[in-house]
Amino acid sequence: MKTTIAQVGHYIDKEVKIGAWIANKRSSGKIAFLQLRDGTGFIQGVVVKAEVAEAVFQTAKSITQESSLYVTGIVRADERSPSGYELTVTDIELIHQSTDYPITPKEHGTEFLMDNRHLWIRSKKQHAVMKIRNQIIKSTYDFFYENGFTKLDSPILTGSSPEGTSELFHTKYFEEDAYLSQSGQLYAEAGAMALGRVFTFGPTFRAEKSKTRRHLIEFWMIEPEMAFMEHEESLEIQEQYVSYLAKAVLTECQLELKVLDRDLSKLESIQAPFPRITYDKALDMLHEKGFDDIKWGDDFGSPHETALAEHYEQPVFITHYPKSLKPFYMQPAPGREDVVLCADLIAPEGYGEVIGGSERIHDYELLKQEIDRHGLPLEQYQWYLDLRKYGSVPHSGFGLGLERTVAWFSGIEHVRETIGFPRLLNRLHP
Ligand code: 4AD
Ligand code: MG
Repeated sequence: MKTTIAQVGHYIDKEVKIGAWIANKRSSGKIAFLQLRDGTGFIQGVVVKAEVAEAVFQTAKSITQESSLYVTGIVRADERSPSGYELTVTDIELIHQSTDYPITPKEHGTEFLMDNRHLWIRSKKQHAVMKIRNQIIKSTYDFFYENGFTKLDSPILTGSSPEGTSELFHTKYFEEDAYLSQSGQLYAEAGAMALGRVFTFGPTFRAEKSKTRRHLIEFWMIEPEMAFMEHEESLEIQEQYVSYLAKAVLTECQLELKVLDRDLSKLESIQAPFPRITYDKALDMLHEKGFDDIKWGDDFGSPHETALAEHYEQPVFITHYPKSLKPFYMQPAPGREDVVLCADLIAPEGYGEVIGGSERIHDYELLKQEIDRHGLPLEQYQWYLDLRKYGSVPHSGFGLGLERTVAWFSGIEHVRETIGFPRLLNRLHP
């Protein structure tokens, strides 16, 4: 019976055939242990010299790392193995003998691994991270569909820059300047006025000069946008969404979390509601913690975010940032014109900001003023202003960074390992 490693549990004590690669191998004169992987999982294949044809044992002994094969064997339940199963090999059909696979079980430097990213993703840990990423993507669709959202695909080539003009990727094709999308938000807002609740989910681009563990120049963002939705209600959706993701990863990715040696209690404590503090309060807390240099109006850097997050087990919302720190479209807070109705969700354990969101300005004149004040070309934003001209309503939305969320849930240090082929400052290949 041809099957996959993920499915072997259905065939205990039966013979199966699996297309696989050799992840690793150990052998002696009488027995060979093949660490097999097939993309769906990992399993150990045991080849006993006395129990197989001589040619099969010789193949097992000489087979090299990352060679491909069809392996036939009897599935055994085995409590000691992480997957719960082992394969007693009866036959091997070599498909392709691999030579000098560059990534050996010894330690390699990160730059070397990044240069070999096309191969590195085969390794057990990288496989686990990709599976967790996949689960978050699936659960994102599940959550938003269960909650009445419609997916809206925002364009990648745009003429607008919602998040400021300093980090744009310019492209040459149109008569005018076009940029790769920094955020699908402005289009999502138009979508929300047509469909009520929408989410966009796509690649976004920031020509960031920052070289940190949290920054990619191409990353994926999930951006829900909701009509008739005020700031506070949006925070509730955000905490429900993030809790839903954590729960799904905990239930569906148990093996992967084990491979990554993730402290499960950290994920178990991600449960709505999350604490909320204002920027003002956060600033006081930072002063109490000895960050003397930071003053009202300064943005929080990652040491600040980490210090604030340390205060809580849960992720924490920091709300009401100074208007001067945020993009042009955010709604001023009632009675406090110097701050806006926004929130960043700061993850614990130093993962930093995973969500940025806000209520949007819905008054035509005010929005026009802000576009002017930010020096943005009014003609590019006329369509966006139209949304405030024809049946304007209070609306809110947010953006969750997929890679930062994957890093956090997986417990890995750097976002470069959370996407198949990361684009970083100075990295375009492979
Ligand atoms: O805070 P940001 O810039 O917000 C927006 O783009 C809004 N338009 C979202 C919205 O309201 N619809 O980005 C949102 C999130 C951040 O919290 C972070 O998780 C992620 O996107 N992010 C990055 N992730 C990796 N590398 C980068 N360079 C990132 N920049 C932002
Ligand atoms: Mg932000």
